[in-house]
Amino acid sequence: MPVIALQGVRGGIGTTSITAALAWSLQQLGESVLAIDLSPDNLLRLHFNTPVGLNRGWARAELEGVAWQQGAMRYCENLDFLPFGGLNLAEQRSIDQQQRQAPQRWRDFLAQVRASGHYRWILLDMPAGNTPVIEQQLALADTVFQLMSPDANCHARLYQQPMPAACRFLVNGYSAASLLQQDLHQLWLQTLEGLLPLVIHRDEALAEALAMKQPLGEYRPESLAADEVLTLANWCLLNLQGSAR
Ligand SMILES: Nc1ncnc2c1ncn2[C@@H]1O[C@H](COP(=O)(O)OP(=O)(O)OP(=O)(O)O)[C@@H](O)[C@H]1O
Ligand SMILES: [Mg+2]
Repeated sequence: MPVIALQGVRGGIGTTSITAALAWSLQQLGESVLAIDLSPDNLLRLHFNTPVGLNRGWARAELEGVAWQQGAMRYCENLDFLPFGGLNLAEQRSIDQQQRQAPQRWRDFLAQVRASGHYRWILLDMPAGNTPVIEQQLALADTVFQLMSPDANCHARLYQQPMPAACRFLVNGYSAASLLQQDLHQLWLQTLEGLLPLVIHRDEALAEALAMKQPLGEYRPESLAADEVLTLANWCLLNLQGSAR
């Protein structure tokens, strides 16, 4: 049961959208997937048609002292998701503190999920940044995908902010018409260890999929980006199946 954490080199790169899309594509390939939202923004659920006002999720369950499994929801036969839960600011601070004080909670939860044998893949939708809690959560993953836009901001960040050990870099939002993006991508191909051998293009289908509250491959399976995420899912099957601890 490989655990893949997806995180943006900065915010807004498309991490949550790609997490939902990858979960869908893995499920399309016959795999079983649990996608977990670790971001207090609580947006992953919106890719899975959840009513905006429904605030269930693992952090809400934790605050209410009930099992995290009760926050999980089924999207389709082989695809479940666990929202963060709708928390106000004071509740978010309280969960953050609890997480820092009990780093073992997630390890125990993942051990239970593994023992249940329900899922072949776990995807973690991470917020950008490197707070102590985020560092603890990244350490749960067998593989970390760091998402980048091909722009100078991300390029600068590659060299001035710490990156998780042995992470893979995934380019999202690539526009072939941009000379700068072509150049940056070429440079990364030549110099960036861990760059994945595929890109996800900027594609209106991804933007529309969220507006329609569906994962990309369900909303627009024939789109270029959906095809690329399917390639990513196949790459995971070929390269990560043996990576689980
Ligand atoms: N390849 C793409 N082409 C077009 N639009 C995209 C693409 N990837 C993401 N988007 C759009 O960009 C916006 C931000 O995406 P998303 O919420 O997935 O980013 P994020 O990295 O998770 O952000 P945050 O840092 O807030 O968690 C969304 O409206 C999404 O539809
Ligand atoms: Mg996000």
